[in-house]
Amino acid sequence: MKRSFFVFLFVSILIVAGIVVISNKGSADSSFLNNYKADIFYTESCGCCANFIGYARNQGLKVNPLLTEDIEGKKDSLNIPASVRSCHTTVINGYFIEGHVPAEAIEKLLKEKPAIDGIGAPGMPEGAPGMPGARKPYDVVSVKDGNVIGIFYSVR
Ligand code: CU
Ligand code: CU
Repeated sequence: MKRSFFVFLFVSILIVAGIVVISNKGSADSSFLNNYKADIFYTESCGCCANFIGYARNQGLKVNPLLTEDIEGKKDSLNIPASVRSCHTTVINGYFIEGHVPAEAIEKLLKEKPAIDGIGAPGMPEGAPGMPGARKPYDVVSVKDGNVIGIFYSVR
């Protein structure tokens, strides 16, 4: 009787620990992101932009949505290369974050503070934050002086 209780207790602890590990896997630190204001430039007709704004808020960022008529002009002024462009453009602490970039990559950018201009997830990756579908692998690239200089973060 007593022994079976301890077995039960032990198994319960393992299950709770397992749930904590699973729920933390691949998630960003919302209390860290909560220290940052995110200007998100978006266009009215863009459904995935609205979804991404909701996602960014859920991840803890202090989101400032900015409805923008000339969004390509905004991307031009930030020197975002055409090959990296997506729909919305986020700006945090002087870095641009183009498109459907996961919060984990934003957290990495703000913690590491690399000497680049920004990062971007080119196009509209299926299943990316704010995008419908099952998540598929894609890369977030680093950009400096209008050029892609490497892979910053890989979604797998
Ligand atoms: Cu989009
Ligand atoms: Cu968008």
